[in-house]
Amino acid sequence: MGLVEYDIKKEIRRRRTFAIISHPDAGKTTLTEKLLLYGGAIRLAGSVKSRKAQRYAVSDWMEIEKQRGISVTSSVMQFEYGGYCINILDTPGHQDFSEDTYRTLMAADSAVMIIDHAKGVEEQTKKLFKVCRMRGIPIFTFINKLDREGRDPFELMEEIETVLGIQSYPMNWPVRLGGSFLGIYDRKMMHMELFSGGNHGQSIVPSMKKSVEDPIFRDLLGEEAHSKLIEDINLLDMAGDEFDMNKVLKGEMTPIFFGSAMTNFGVENFLQEFLKMSTPPLPRKADIGEIDPENDFFSGFIFKIQANMNPTHRDRIAFMRICSGKFTKGMSVNHVQAGKQIRLTQPQQFLAQDREIVEEAYAGDIIGLFDPGIFKIGDTLCEKNPQFKFEGIPIFAPEHFARVYIKNSLKRKQFIKGIEQLSEEGAIQVFHEKDSIAQDMIVGVVGILQLEVLEYRLKNEYGTEINIEHLPYKYIRWVASENFNPEKVRLTLDTKVLWDDRNNPVLVFQNEWSIRTVEERNKELILTDISSISS
Ligand code: G4P
Repeated sequence: MGLVEYDIKKEIRRRRTFAIISHPDAGKTTLTEKLLLYGGAIRLAGSVKSRKAQRYAVSDWMEIEKQRGISVTSSVMQFEYGGYCINILDTPGHQDFSEDTYRTLMAADSAVMIIDHAKGVEEQTKKLFKVCRMRGIPIFTFINKLDREGRDPFELMEEIETVLGIQSYPMNWPVRLGGSFLGIYDRKMMHMELFSGGNHGQSIVPSMKKSVEDPIFRDLLGEEAHSKLIEDINLLDMAGDEFDMNKVLKGEMTPIFFGSAMTNFGVENFLQEFLKMSTPPLPRKADIGEIDPENDFFSGFIFKIQANMNPTHRDRIAFMRICSGKFTKGMSVNHVQAGKQIRLTQPQQFLAQDREIVEEAYAGDIIGLFDPGIFKIGDTLCEKNPQFKFEGIPIFAPEHFARVYIKNSLKRKQFIKGIEQLSEEGAIQVFHEKDSIAQDMIVGVVGILQLEVLEYRLKNEYGTEINIEHLPYKYIRWVASENFNPEKVRLTLDTKVLWDDRNNPVLVFQNEWSIRTVEERNKELILTDISSISS
């Protein structure tokens, strides 16, 4: 192996690319900020939020962003820590939860799941967890807000196991006294780490690490609390599952860490252990077999497309996950789906919201490509001959449906074009009724904000105003069985048959009861909640 190949491999091996999944308010922004703080990427905590605020001032491309005070699109943050090069993929939550949130998970090699220790496993966490589970990537759990009153850690572990169906293994255990969170017991090192420092987590907190048997802890905690802690630790050792790294790597067991992102207690321990256990870039499935990240040729795929800042131009940014080899600015690659060679001239990387031009990047990294409208979600770019295609990105189940009408039928051509392009970009999913001559159409979205984006963009980019009529459907199932006959299927009254844009039949339901009833009435019917893969 030459020196250059050695350097490329070294760069790839030190990469860790992960997404943080959580329900809104569990502490994703705060933990991200603290990871950046420990990585030295920001000096004072608070910067991620203030960066967010700054961005609203400069990006007036989408009024919705300003009106709502939220970010519509997710970003990527890269920083260094302890020799690792870390890429955090931000998964939009709150009202800007959308299909992009799921697609982002397709680009990650592992996930960090944050759980609020007072609230336990919440709705959005369940949905995101399901996608990570489908991919079989490792999932690490950070139980947050230990500085506040919350639920019993044993109870939370049980909830994770029963609700999510994953085994759990606490890597550490919280040390608390009368409601205050003092530190953690590290089960592997068998030592206690107690934190001090009260500047609200604005800087790295000092800590003291000593054996749990050290009399200092008995004095500090008092006899009763100390004995309870030892009892808990013994119970975990005796009754808990055994740690199994293989299961962790397959996403069948989640290592659990306790802490407080706000006060920084437990954050560094989490970061260090997570980096040791999580994987470097994983191989990716392609039509010619698995592509090893350490291959000497460059390859990557597009997982997300973001509309541009400038409404007068339709260009966009396509986010590419590099899957193998090294990327250099200006390189020529095959755009496999388009059957063309293209030069990648204006690649961008993101730290929080600051963009910079990247000169080079490696497998595991995410870069933004200038897109004059040539990319689609799932496209493969590669240097290799023969060319290959990576496995595409699944189409996720919309949860909101609406009928959209054009206000002025003279604008029909622009309307159709706009809908087609936005659907190609992955901003909406389009459905139709077999017998309707599409004066109107039905769109499906994962997050309700996508409908507002649709309305805004059709008006601003295509000069078409629309009316939106919300439909009561909440669930979709694609029909996977052959020989589906819409006349013969026995539905409930509130269920409807539609066709997606690839002409696959789907059923839309208003409640879970209807799904079960339809399945019971039609034993031969096979329904799936993620459509086959697009490419
Ligand atoms: P999100 O991105 O997951 O939506 O959550 P975010 O980090 O914005 O945190 C949501 C709220 O929870 C914030 O409070 C934040 O300060 C608080 N929080 C995060 N981590 C911890 C923690 O470890 N302990 C405690 N006690 N609180 C935590 P907020 O009042 O909504 O905002 P702010 O005014 O504090 O910024």
